Amino acid sequence: MATRKKKIGIGLLGLGTVGTGVVELLEKNRVHIESRVGAQLEIRSAVVKDVSKARPGMPSNLKITNKVSDVTNDPEVDLIVELMGGFEPARTYILEGISKGKHIVTANKAVLAKHWDEIFQAAHDKNVDVYLEAAVGGGIPCIQAINDGLAANKISEITAIINGTTNFILTGMAQYGQTFEKSLKDAQAKGYAESDPSFDIDGMDACHKLAILSSIAFDQRVKIEEIHIQGIRGITKADIDAAKTEMNCTVKHLAIARSREEHGLEVQVVPCLIPHDHPLASVEGVYNGIVVTGDAVGRVMLSGRGAGKLPTASAVISDIIYIARNIAVGVAGKVPAVAYDVDRVESRRIVPYDEIKNRFFLRFTAVDQPGVLARIASILAEHGISISSVAQNERQKGSSVPVYLSTYTATEKSMGEAIKAIESLPAVKSGTLVMRLEIPENAS
Ligand code: NAP
Ligand code: HSE
Repeated sequence: MATRKKKIGIGLLGLGTVGTGVVELLEKNRVHIESRVGAQLEIRSAVVKDVSKARPGMPSNLKITNKVSDVTNDPEVDLIVELMGGFEPARTYILEGISKGKHIVTANKAVLAKHWDEIFQAAHDKNVDVYLEAAVGGGIPCIQAINDGLAANKISEITAIINGTTNFILTGMAQYGQTFEKSLKDAQAKGYAESDPSFDIDGMDACHKLAILSSIAFDQRVKIEEIHIQGIRGITKADIDAAKTEMNCTVKHLAIARSREEHGLEVQVVPCLIPHDHPLASVEGVYNGIVVTGDAVGRVMLSGRGAGKLPTASAVISDIIYIARNIAVGVAGKVPAVAYDVDRVESRRIVPYDEIKNRFFLRFTAVDQPGVLARIASILAEHGISISSVAQNERQKGSSVPVYLSTYTATEKSMGEAIKAIESLPAVKSGTLVMRLEIPENAS
């Protein structure tokens, strides 16, 4: 039997919220973690942008550098952990590490979602591993669950809350009456938000994560451009209250991948109303929830903290343990980490946005004058859209009032065209809020 490697060298790229969490958690639970690996783990160096920054709590013997070559050219580094974020230079550094035969752990969903093929092809060619547990769902082991635990199933649907920041903001508004701006500031202070928080609130971060989850779950590459995205900007406390009083629902920002057998795969990141008894309704604050439906297992739900220093470090270190254990016994890189195999992919149709079918909850802003509601209803009917409920606030003659309206199923295309026609009415203002209604038709 080959001798076991006694020490595994690690190089960090990034020492911010997650990077410091990884160092701290490794130090705190070192004995336990190393006993799981069967070898010693040594973080040899960390690459940062600003070497002059104070790094309280970091071990004094940790080499901090701004030269990536200190990591990629270090023969003692077996494993590179990328925790910088963004597309570049993260992509270049990951590929450089792979080209030098280093295994990779990353929490960077943006770089993975965009450069998936290039990164996994390079890893395949060099027989190195790329592990990504922390890229989706923070501390929830959802990649491993879908990739391994549910591998026997044909998955038909993933419905998920996979952005902690937007869930934290919506919960802050709904439960504590906080403003959008205050909740976002709190999320940033807690280290949940991306360095550019528009990635969170406009839905791009959840889009990156959905691209990754669905590429693994559905055995085919799902590209970010194929996912329809709408963020949570423009949603007010009054809208959340209306969802509750009119529909007995809560508002969540959902990432949905739904396989409609003959039609294809619908992928969207959109604000939705879900009933209070939906499994994701009680997922609050920074928590994420991922509901996966498989043909054998039925519905499985995973939930936990979706962002933050230590929950995310927990996921990163689980990947480190996995790879380090394989390095120690000389089998790392021999089996592709992700079930999605670059040589065997499905080619299910991705349903174009216009054809996606949803139920809708709409907020029009209309001047309160006779006949407006009737005109809105008739335009919707002309587009083949049936209304399931209407609610209008107390009248304020001559001034604008919100009109909330829910519909039965329609395509995004018909709804888009109907809204355009409705907003061309002199009594209706532009800026209609569109949310989806996740209630099956036969349930209402
Ligand atoms: P962060 O706090 O902003 O830290 C980023 C780190 O990367 C910093 O140490 C920074 O250096 C370094 N860095 C940035 N650009 C660099 C460059 N061009 N060259 C060298 N170093 C550079 O970010 P984070 O919150 O830890 O997130 C890291 C990654 O984890 C991201 O991909 C993020 O999406 C992902 N993630 C984060 C969370 C979370 O809860 N925060 C959860 C899951 C996944 P300085 O320290 O000198 O500024
Ligand atoms: N900004 C991300 C979020 C971090 O809020 O979910 C975790 O990926």
